[in-house]
Amino acid sequence: LKIGVLASGRGSNLQSLLDAISAGTLDAEIVLVISDKQNAMALDRAAAQGVPAVHLNPKDFNDRKSYDLAIAELFKERGATAIVLAGYMRIISRPFLESFPERVINIHPALLPAFPGLHSQKQALEYGVRYSGCTVHFVDEGMDTGPIIVQAVVPVEKDDTEETLAARILQEEHRILPEALQLLAQGRLRVEGRKVQIL
Ligand code: GRF
Repeated sequence: LKIGVLASGRGSNLQSLLDAISAGTLDAEIVLVISDKQNAMALDRAAAQGVPAVHLNPKDFNDRKSYDLAIAELFKERGATAIVLAGYMRIISRPFLESFPERVINIHPALLPAFPGLHSQKQALEYGVRYSGCTVHFVDEGMDTGPIIVQAVVPVEKDDTEETLAARILQEEHRILPEALQLLAQGRLRVEGRKVQIL
């Protein structure tokens, strides 16, 4: 599986994919990492492993569509057949999704459909849920709404802060993101309507 990654920041989820590939538990190759942020640590992590990594500034493009078409083109030139949003802080437009139909995957730090959007861990704490977690899902045009592939649950502890809860969830993110990609690599995911069947 040839994977393209979009990341805006720290890149720990990108790292989890690189580590799973090195460990032989993910049969894939990361062919290109693109970031909308120049100083994203994700770019350094990719470069450290010899993975091509580029910063593309959205401000250098007229609109979202032209930016998304440009990044889709770069991914295609590298032969990417699946795209992972690993902490990518921009909404993906329809032209990008049409370039990779049912092949764009996102990781979200909550048990969707609860707490979509930003600051999910804070939303979960403020709501008072006893459990939260993370979700790997196919991306559609909505905000964190696409078909769910894998989820993991973590407890919310009495003294949790946004940071401690986020850290507990992140550990699980790093486990289920490579797991979901391996299912895709093995051709074991079938999207049927809004549900994903694991074969
Ligand atoms: C993760 O919590 C991910 O679920 C969310 O943004 C964060 C990115 O972290 N979408 P990292 O850049 O992968 O370390």
